[in-house]
Amino acid sequence: MSHNLLKGKKGIIFGALDDRSIAWRVALACKREGAEFVLSNAPIALRLGALNALSEETNAPIFPCDVTSDQEVRELMKKTKDHLGGVDFILHAIGMSPNIRKKVEYEKLNYQWFQQTLDISAVSLHKVIHFAEEEGVLNDGASVVALSYIGAQRIFSKYSDMNDAKALLESIARNYGSRLGGRGIRVNTISQGPTKTSAGSGIKGFDGMYTFAEKIAPLGNPTADECADYCVTLFSDLTRKVTMQNLFHDGGFSTSGISEQMIEDLAKMYNEDTE
Ligand SMILES: NC(=O)c1ccc[n+]([C@@H]2O[C@H](COP(=O)([O-])OP(=O)(O)OC[C@H]3O[C@@H](n4cnc5c(N)ncnc54)[C@H](O)[C@@H]3O)[C@@H](O)[C@H]2O)c1
Repeated sequence: MSHNLLKGKKGIIFGALDDRSIAWRVALACKREGAEFVLSNAPIALRLGALNALSEETNAPIFPCDVTSDQEVRELMKKTKDHLGGVDFILHAIGMSPNIRKKVEYEKLNYQWFQQTLDISAVSLHKVIHFAEEEGVLNDGASVVALSYIGAQRIFSKYSDMNDAKALLESIARNYGSRLGGRGIRVNTISQGPTKTSAGSGIKGFDGMYTFAEKIAPLGNPTADECADYCVTLFSDLTRKVTMQNLFHDGGFSTSGISEQMIEDLAKMYNEDTE
């Protein structure tokens, strides 16, 4: 059901790859709420062709952009300005670690790939805001949201160098939030619980992390659609004084210790008495 929360708002949505992507679900939710936007992804991801269906469904053009390239990000901002004028929201839903992809352990990181992890997954947020500012794309009162993970605060061993990337991403959001507040612009990160997407499933041990979080979180793991609804609230005028925050959207996982269910499961596994 639409609440028209984004009626008249314009935006840029980065990171929709296929219909499981969080950004894909955000695009559908933004459309439902009355927004107009452009979609962007790396040229290599666009070759898969899946994004065309979303583009048609939401009536949004696709502007290719590899976020590691200053020139491509600037070009994207120029095209967006020509198409929409200024924007009121930006979703950064971008993450990738070549080390994780190529199964290189944290103690043996390939440093060139580590740089790429940081560049793609974190520095890109700086780049997007920087060039949006330089090209005059961000409207006063706009809202920028980037997707993060609790690996920024607590180490999940299989998340490897992405733990570091998310810590940097959250810091960049705070740093820019402090600078843009004078124009009423908010910058926040949403720390989403494990979600079965292409990036998520690419992590070795993801199923274990997913099941663990599901058993600990009182509300269970959030879906990509639920994350999309949360993004809508942050893009809307209902959250005008929320900025420089890392907001957990994880069913309560981040503030839980252990659950009754987990105690019972462990007792069964180790043949212990729970009475
Ligand atoms: N899936 C999860 O469990 C989970 C949990 C918390 C946070 N997140 C974060 O959510 C965001 C979206 O991930 P997702 O789970 O929807 O997976 P996804 O694979 O659908 O999205 C990742 C996107 O990053 C894009 N990308 C990679 N390199 C790029 C580049 N150089 N330039 C432009 N785009 C590039 C990919 O093409 C893809 O569209 C990521 O930041 C991810 O870390 C995911």
